[in-house]
Amino acid sequence: MSIVVTAASGQLGRHTVEALLNRGVPASRIVATSRDVTKIKDLADRGVTVRRADFAEPASLAAAFEGAEKLLLVSTTTPSERVANHRRAIDAAVAASISLVAYTSMLHADTSTASLAPTHSATEEYLRDRLPSVLLRNGWYLENYTSQLPRVMQGGALIGAAGRGRISAATRADYADAAAVVLSTDGHTGEVYELGGDHAFTLAELATAISVVTGQRIRYTDLPADTFTRALLDAGVPPELANVLVSADLAMSRDEMFTDSGDLRRLIGRPTTTPAEAITDALR
Ligand SMILES: NC(=O)c1ccc[n+]([C@@H]2O[C@H](COP(=O)([O-])OP(=O)(O)OC[C@H]3O[C@@H](n4cnc5c(N)ncnc54)[C@H](OP(=O)(O)O)[C@@H]3O)[C@@H](O)[C@H]2O)c1
Repeated sequence: MSIVVTAASGQLGRHTVEALLNRGVPASRIVATSRDVTKIKDLADRGVTVRRADFAEPASLAAAFEGAEKLLLVSTTTPSERVANHRRAIDAAVAASISLVAYTSMLHADTSTASLAPTHSATEEYLRDRLPSVLLRNGWYLENYTSQLPRVMQGGALIGAAGRGRISAATRADYADAAAVVLSTDGHTGEVYELGGDHAFTLAELATAISVVTGQRIRYTDLPADTFTRALLDAGVPPELANVLVSADLAMSRDEMFTDSGDLRRLIGRPTTTPAEAITDALR
């Protein structure tokens, strides 16, 4: 019986396949999917079964999930189509009699005021009513910040609208490792994991961490929501994404991206990657 990982061409999905292999799951038990299997040919070369799956095409999902015991459903990227896409994937998982579906949701999806939260809570509800499941409520990615380092270093400033909210960000690799544990060990059915890094920070503290690692003084400038939106648009961020990011920052300002559950650390069996480690890695 196999473990299917969707969006294996994406960053989180690919890290999850790597984590399953690192944890000793034989490649022959892993099925990796993408809409374009040429993107994951390297996984096929290592013995992982590679199948095409497009959440918009139910027939492709039926073929991709055949013979699966467990499924990692990675949330898709297009918010407006997300719930319909996820419902089709869950319907296909029901038809394939999959015994456990792990879904990558977001931190506090049931109470968060972030604009993306309703898409996650609607998926959670649909899934919970139909199949044994485990909810991986992932917090913010540290990479959302480390990927911006060149621009931050150039301008000498980190900008946002998160105020003094604490953010329990963690690396994709740590979230993926937690997913791999859930997929490869027993005892997770019905669990709701609130996943975040051990080292919560405000954006002012993150600016200090960047300053310490790089030796360049970086300050944090907190902006009103409309000014932050304008700054993102001016930097070339598409309007839909800009709105998502501003909404996420406002949720952060209310501590909605904070957790002290310890779920991530407990699942992966080690402390999570620190912001300073992630910054250092990104600058290598
Ligand atoms: N926690 C956070 O901070 C945060 C931030 C951003 C996003 N997210 C969520 O986390 C998810 C994974 O993040 P990531 O960094 O791995 O994203 P990513 O690298 O952009 O990868 C997105 C993946 O979604 C797949 N996908 C999109 N639409 C699909 C569809 N209709 N059918 C099948 N696959 C589809 C893509 O596969 P193809 O190869 O088929 O294109 C790709 O593998 C995102 O999709 C998003 O929902 C979380």
